[in-house]
Parts: sequence; C-alpha cells; structure tokens
Amino acid sequence: MINFEFYNPARIIFGKDTELQAGAQIAKFGKRVLLHYGGGSVKANGVYDKVVKAIEEEGLFFMELGGVVPNPRLSLVREGIRLCRENNIDFVLAVGGGSVIDSAKAIAAGACYSGDIWDLYMDNSKLGELTKVLPVGVVLTIPAAGSESSTASVITNEEGWFKRAIGTEAIIPKFAILNPETSYTLPPYQTACGASDILAHLMERYFTQVSNVDFTDRLLEANIRTILNNAPLALKYPENYDIRAEIMWAGAVAHNNLLNTGRIGDWGSHDIEHEISGVYDIAHGAGLSIVFPAWMKYVYKQNVDKFIQFAQRVFNVDFSFDNKEQIVFEMIERLEAWYVRMGLPIRLSHANIGSDRLREMADKCTVGRTHVGNFQKLTADDVYEIYKLAL
Ligand code: NZQ
Ligand code: ZN
Repeated sequence: MINFEFYNPARIIFGKDTELQAGAQIAKFGKRVLLHYGGGSVKANGVYDKVVKAIEEEGLFFMELGGVVPNPRLSLVREGIRLCRENNIDFVLAVGGGSVIDSAKAIAAGACYSGDIWDLYMDNSKLGELTKVLPVGVVLTIPAAGSESSTASVITNEEGWFKRAIGTEAIIPKFAILNPETSYTLPPYQTACGASDILAHLMERYFTQVSNVDFTDRLLEANIRTILNNAPLALKYPENYDIRAEIMWAGAVAHNNLLNTGRIGDWGSHDIEHEISGVYDIAHGAGLSIVFPAWMKYVYKQNVDKFIQFAQRVFNVDFSFDNKEQIVFEMIERLEAWYVRMGLPIRLSHANIGSDRLREMADKCTVGRTHVGNFQKLTADDVYEIYKLAL
C-alpha cells in the first residue's frame, strides 16, 4: 500500500424525499442560485418542481439554465459563466446526471477564473491558477458518473470535439442529494450505461500494480458484485426502491476516491473511451462496455495474477481450467455476457463505428501526454491496437 491522503467533504443526503432539503442546504452557502439541468427529464418526472419549491421556500433568488446534453458542451458552459457574472450568482445547483454536474462544476470554476476555462481542461498543470470556485450542490437523477462527490469535470469542446477532464478538490460538490426514487424514470438503456460506468470506475481502481492492497481490493470486489447483481434487477423492476438504492449508493462510493486509497488506478480505458464519446457522441457507459474487454485482452499479461484474482473472486471462474490465460479469457467472456444482458454494445461495430477514424482517435488520445493508463503505460500505438481489438 502506498502513502495516501483522503479528503472528501461532499455531504451525502440519501433517501426518499430528500430533494425537499435542497433549499436549506443551499442557504448554508449562497443566496443567488443558478439552477442547471439537462434536456427535460427532471421536468417530466417532477424532480424540478420539488427542487424549485424547496428553493422558493427558503426565499432564495434563482435563475435557470437548462439544455445540458450528454457529453456536455463547452458552449453552454460559457453561457453559464456569463449568466453567473452578470447576475452575481453565488451558488450553482446541478439537477440531473454526470453531464449536468460536470457542466455546473465548469461554470462554477469559470465564473471565478479570469482566463479561458478551457485552457485548464487542455492543460491540467494550470489548475493551480484556479484559486476560487463557486460552491456547487447536486440533486442526482442517475447513478453513473459519480460526479456528485468526485473531484472531476469532463467537458467536450465542439471545436475539434476534444473531450477533456479537470480534477481538483475545489470542485467537489458541497452536498449531493441522492434520492433513489428519482432514478425510477430512467430508460433501460440509461440504467445500463450508468451501471457500466460505475463498474468501470471500480475496475479502473482494481487493476493496479500496487501490491498488498487487500482491504481496498475487497471493498472494490463487494461494490462490483453489488452492481453486477443489482443492475439487471433494476431493468426488471425499475421502480423497486431497494434495488435503485443499492446502485445509487454504490455509484457514489465507487468514485469518491475512498476506493483508491493506497493504490494507483489505471484510467486508460476512460481516456480511450473519452475519444469515442467525444468523436461519435455515444453514451460514456456504452463506450466503456466496448473498451474494457479489449483493454483487458491487451494488458492482462502485465500482471496476470491480478486478473486471476478478479476472475475468481468476482466472476467465480472455476479453477479447473488448465492455464492462467484460459481463466482470464473465461472471465472476459462472462463480463461481456453481462454487458450483453444489460443491452450494451461490446464491439465498436455494435455502435455503428467503423475502422476509419481509429488512428485519429489514438493520436488524439495522447495529445499533450506521453501515455495513458498506469497498469500498462499505453502509447498512441497501443491505444490503436486496443481500438482494433474492439472492432
Ligand atoms: O438531459 P435529460 O433530459 O435530463 O436526460 C438525461 C440524459 O439524456 C437522462 N436522464 C438522467 N436522469 C434521468 C434521465 N432520464 C429519465 N429519468 C431520469 N431520472 O439520462 C441521459 C444521460 O445523462 P448524463 O448526465 O449524460 O449521464 P451520466 O450521469 O452517465 O453522465 C455522463 C457524463 O459524465 C462524464 C461522462 O464522460 C459523460 O460526459 N463523466 C464524469 C465523471 C466525473 N465528473 O467524475 C466521471 C465519469 O467517468 C465520466 O467520464
Ligand atoms: Zn466513467
């Protein structure tokens, strides 16, 4: 286990009707609120009305900015920054999923930053220039990205379709309201994409080259099994509170950094995926179900015993298989079968993506960095091979 510091100040408010507490929570930090949301699901399922009521009951000023799209765009972030500055906004409330939350975080940072916020996404070494960020709060409607208590924000710049992230403690939300009931209205495909993203956050952390991390290995395995068991049930029983609750809490803990204490996660699959959803605008979780099996096939030899442990403890792969490679490939087949059962693509072709832009994506993936991933440090050529394995 390596040295670590763990700090996560996001207050988690979990359970039925908790969105009614939004106003009181905001009032601890600000008086003038930007209410940020996506394409309308929160209006259709009543979450928006409950949140507005909670804000009004607290006597807070608010203005709204809807229209966040999945893979949130820089242009709307710029619009939000302008609104915050012109209206002395002092709090940004995200009501929605990872895209809305990431957009809110970018706005909150950009409103206080004198330069161009995009520069920080393209060059993370400049993040030290970010000395102030407006406080952000969250009412979560889809367990997936974990952005509700993460240090990250991922934004897509339509000019060149670069999808890039920042990571800093300054943008961890002050509070995150998690009412599993808000996820009842998720279409099955979004439930599946969310589960795939949560699973990916856990596997990125699991596949580490740091040894003697038994405690966090086992926490990760417990979380992964929770997702593998409950996500298919959520497709079958979309309005079952207990199932939705397991997924929502597991999703937040998957990405609040507790589970990478003392270890170095990989994150190559995320970087490789971000090129796909940046260029082809597919759901992040769907890109991950394509990339992860291909990544596993490419890198497992770097620490085959870690893969064997995963196969045995998570997928119950029978040890009567003759050799280690067979065990690893059996595990990958079981993982792929789970994705398929969830209705997710496992090959680029399943998402109607051909081979014509693979080289371009591989080169773009490593712009500004020598490699991606830590389990095996991957160059642009390695990334290209992984894309080819995913065809
Ligand atoms: O826009 P609306 O109408 O709200 O519809 C959304 C959207 O179409 C819909 N939805 C959300 N809650 C719903 C609902 N529909 C019905 N009922 C509900 N309760 O779901 C669709 C997807 O929403 P989105 O916010 O895009 O999903 P997700 O939470 O998966 O976020 C994906 C984004 O997060 C980034 C991804 O790259 C992607 O851009 N990530 C952010 C991370 C972070 N900040 O820590 C880490 C992740 O690895 C990830 O990269
Ligand atoms: Zn993710």
